[in-house]
Amino acid sequence: MEARKVKTEHPFTMFEYLVPRAPDAIIALMQQCKADTNPDKIDLGVGVYKDASGETSILRAVKKAEKQLWETETTKSYVGIRGNDDFRHSMLHLILGGEAGKIDDALMNRIASSQAAGGSGALRLGAEIIKSAAPDATVWVSTPTWANHIPLISAAGLKMEKYPYYNRETLGVDFDDMLSHLERKAKPGDVVLLHGCCHNPSGADLDPAQWDRLADFLAAQELTPYVDLAYFGLGRGMAEDSYGLRKVVEVCPETIIAASCSKNFALYKERVGLIAIVCKDDTTAAIARSQLGATQRKIISMPPDHGAKLVADILGDAELRAMWVEELTEMRERMRDLRRQLSEALDVQGGAVIAAAVKNQNGMFSTLPLSVDQARKLRSDYSIYMTDSGRINIAGANNENIPRLADAILAVL
Ligand SMILES: Cc1ncc(COP(=O)(O)O)c(C=O)c1O
Repeated sequence: MEARKVKTEHPFTMFEYLVPRAPDAIIALMQQCKADTNPDKIDLGVGVYKDASGETSILRAVKKAEKQLWETETTKSYVGIRGNDDFRHSMLHLILGGEAGKIDDALMNRIASSQAAGGSGALRLGAEIIKSAAPDATVWVSTPTWANHIPLISAAGLKMEKYPYYNRETLGVDFDDMLSHLERKAKPGDVVLLHGCCHNPSGADLDPAQWDRLADFLAAQELTPYVDLAYFGLGRGMAEDSYGLRKVVEVCPETIIAASCSKNFALYKERVGLIAIVCKDDTTAAIARSQLGATQRKIISMPPDHGAKLVADILGDAELRAMWVEELTEMRERMRDLRRQLSEALDVQGGAVIAAAVKNQNGMFSTLPLSVDQARKLRSDYSIYMTDSGRINIAGANNENIPRLADAILAVL
């Protein structure tokens, strides 16, 4: 590290003491792709959904709700520290209600929730609450995990450790290793961060039987699940994508949930997220609510309202809701179809393991077993952009370029 400069002149100024930080790798990748003039380039880098024409459009249901809101909204005054009540309650019914889409009052009363600035804001609020409740708890994250999990959660002052998860050879989950590692190393009171569905970056999810075992394991080891639900509805279906979350809520006395509406409502820049803390009883939930409010107050004071109001309006109106479900289904099915096509194109000698994985994995991402050099070669020689770790966003492909993508992957392997 460079030696800190000793300040001698006056007046005193401070900002020359800042240490320059490298740009975020994914942002650098986006810029590199933008600068590439090859008309056939394929952008599989950034984690936003794209339609067949490569656009990240506003959903029709969102546009319609926005129009209604524009016509009826009369004030921009603050809503409240924990945000829009309809948004929080509709989201809880949606993500915890399963097929019925509804939870009972007994469960609702055990939950403290707050609107947050996106899934990221929710993860951070959750981390702050863990820090207040159990400052010595360690938060365990999967290897690999979303690149921002460790910065976001450790910024609250919590210790973090990793557990084994994705096997880069079999391209599946090392479930027994995950459990035995946590059994040996985690202590009661620690927190285990889990991806509710569509694991980022691997796309490899636990199956229902594994979630059942995991829920029993966490309860027996007295570990608290912290479920990051950033891709609800984009994996296999709404009930399927919340199976694991619902299972841990059913079995464990406490669960923390950070949900995002960035991807499934395509509301990225509106920053819509929900933090929910399922407590052992109503009394504890009331205390957790006061803590959530106080914590939000000292970070951003009031959450942004616009996007959350749209989600509340969509979920609360039968017509808008049906329109959103249809659009969510379209996005999910497009990605499943692209996975199927890529899998078929890769299913030749040398590509069978990847072909099977790409087909079975969920959501936008898969991590291919490519070296850094191979990922860079795809960039330099084929104008195919993915992270150095081999993570692809399948939504960046389309029916036309899949054969070329598969050929290039097989060529560098
Ligand atoms: C796993 C995971 N969690 C949370 C988020 C947070 O998303 P946002 O803050 O944009 O809602 C993301 C975004 O990419 C993600 O991939």
